[in-house]
Amino acid sequence: MIVNTTIKNQKYRISFDVNLKKFIKRNLNNYYKVAILTDNNLYKIYKDILKIKGLLVLKIKPGETSKSHIVKNRLDEELLRSKFNRNSLLIGLGGGVVGDLTGFIAATLLRGVDLIHIPTSLVAIVDSSIGGKTGINSNMGKNLIGSFYNPTEIVVNTKFLETLPDKEIRQGLGEIIKYGIIKDLKLFRKLESSNVRFMENNKKDIASILKKCMEIKIKVVQKDFKESDLRSILNFGHTIGHAIEKLYSYKKSHGDCIGVGMAIESILAHEYFDLKHEDLLKIINILDKFGLRRVTYNINQVELLLDYMQLDKKNKGSSITFSLPCKIGTIMKIKDKHTVEVSRKTIKKVLIKYLNEFKNI
Ligand SMILES: NC(=O)c1ccc[n+]([C@@H]2O[C@H](COP(=O)([O-])OP(=O)(O)OC[C@H]3O[C@@H](n4cnc5c(N)ncnc54)[C@H](O)[C@@H]3O)[C@@H](O)[C@H]2O)c1
Ligand SMILES: [Zn+2]
Repeated sequence: MIVNTTIKNQKYRISFDVNLKKFIKRNLNNYYKVAILTDNNLYKIYKDILKIKGLLVLKIKPGETSKSHIVKNRLDEELLRSKFNRNSLLIGLGGGVVGDLTGFIAATLLRGVDLIHIPTSLVAIVDSSIGGKTGINSNMGKNLIGSFYNPTEIVVNTKFLETLPDKEIRQGLGEIIKYGIIKDLKLFRKLESSNVRFMENNKKDIASILKKCMEIKIKVVQKDFKESDLRSILNFGHTIGHAIEKLYSYKKSHGDCIGVGMAIESILAHEYFDLKHEDLLKIINILDKFGLRRVTYNINQVELLLDYMQLDKKNKGSSITFSLPCKIGTIMKIKDKHTVEVSRKTIKKVLIKYLNEFKNI
């Protein structure tokens, strides 16, 4: 199956269940050089697919630390040494780490070479491969250096998910639940009735869930590529989730932190805005069903969490910006904006309420 899409006037296609060897060989015929970047975990499992004459295979250590200047420099030099030119293609085969790094290299090397994403984690399929955000981390924080750069193609092979550890499946489910809450009641209901062991659902259902999520992200970024308003709905659960990630010095996974973030932001949406109690409980239940409320904090850390939220680049002044659901499937709109400003005092009350009444023990 092939879907053609246009984001920021740039056309790209999304192909599903492609024969990768054939696909790479075809590209080797079309380009002067083709390089594929992957991480050591994936290389171990899938090296046979990558044994193709003429294909340059680059490897990085798995994990967030590879999204660095040092690793990027090494790879830039390696590509230039192997005579990469503007008529060359860079492919990223991996999760979001590989995707963000490959994308940033493609964006800057020789002022831009063609890029293809082959996302292999659930997070990369439903989230990071779409939307053009690429980048690396700085000592000052995550994703602070980067650019917007779209691939020419995204190739989705759901078979990769069969080797993805359960913990990583859960991280992707965090984002999938988010899509249901912000944009799609039907998707939310589907998740409510699905097998808790996500990969044991029938293949057709899994494929349709993934396609739905990709479609939602594509539609949102098509309308608002640079995050001036609508794209911020994708940040539901992330304002608090990011602060929790920082509290744990990024040692807890992103999906686990935004799971708690979605629970607390839903309490905020219920207590101070229009989200019904019934919907709040459904949100908490689905997060618990998929084990997405296992990270927590204590009362002494509340002020620190608030400080971290205020540091976020999206906030102005002393209030903090949120995108909140008014019901499952819809983000509320106030004065034509999809975001609201909430005072530190109010968020503090909600953070304490969560500990007293909703904490998952
Ligand atoms: N650009 C964006 O819009 C965007 C959006 C969301 C997240 N991100 C970024 O993505 C990164 C997180 O992505 P992630 O969750 O995919 O993490 P990841 O890339 O670290 O992958 C998670 C782990 O799973 C392994 N793995 C991946 N696919 C596998 C497979 N098929 N079989 C076996 N093991 C596999 C990896 O080796 C790694 O150990 C973060 O750096 C985050 O900042 C970017
Ligand atoms: Zn996220």
